[in-house]
Amino acid sequence: MTPHLSAPFGAIAEAILLPGDPLRAKYIAENFLENPVLYNQVRNMYGYTGTYKGKRVSVQGTGMGIPSASIYIHELIQFYGCKTLIRVGTAGAITERLELRDLVIAQGACTDSSINNLRFAGQNYAPLADFELMRRAHDLAQAKNMPVHVGNVLSTDTFYHDQPDPYKIWAQFGVLAVEMEAAGLYTLAAKFGVRALCILTISDHLIRRQQTTPQERQETFNQMVEVALETI
Ligand code: HPA
Repeated sequence: MTPHLSAPFGAIAEAILLPGDPLRAKYIAENFLENPVLYNQVRNMYGYTGTYKGKRVSVQGTGMGIPSASIYIHELIQFYGCKTLIRVGTAGAITERLELRDLVIAQGACTDSSINNLRFAGQNYAPLADFELMRRAHDLAQAKNMPVHVGNVLSTDTFYHDQPDPYKIWAQFGVLAVEMEAAGLYTLAAKFGVRALCILTISDHLIRRQQTTPQERQETFNQMVEVALETI
């Protein structure tokens, strides 16, 4: 047990998917895993362990934002021995190069959060994905004919900004999309020497002001989960 996870030690697999939404964790467990067992309900942040094609896999909700996700990620790695962590989430496109429903594999994650500013005393750290996981996810997505992009994302602390165009400068430097957790995940994975990846589907286009429908979100989410599970 940890402050945020009630699972006994050993109840969580080394390989784990990390959706932000706990109901997505439930959905993945019930629709993709064999024999899923619920191991956590603390704060309704559901976590399950089951198998996928014979391999033991867990899925854990993390909540939104680097602070919430970092609590779960830290405990999963340090206390439960998780070694391969794949975030599955949504992102907003900030470049015309992307279309709604495209898949983005976050090779790197910039952030406007102060976590690494504080950690590295004002110097900059570049949080990166695990190369092998990234290559595998990319090849699987291509084999499924999914439109897939690999590149930088921005993990923001702010969903509702005060400035009218907060992402313009990031887009000018090649950042593809904005989400809220990847930089925290990659930094903690590096700290503890484990493997991490963040796979995203484009749910909103922040330049064109477009959004996917709930049904489109569900379909692309399912495809992304398949890629993540096959990658594991
Ligand atoms: N901002 C931050 N995270 C997101 C967004 C957004 O616009 N869309 C999906 N995840």
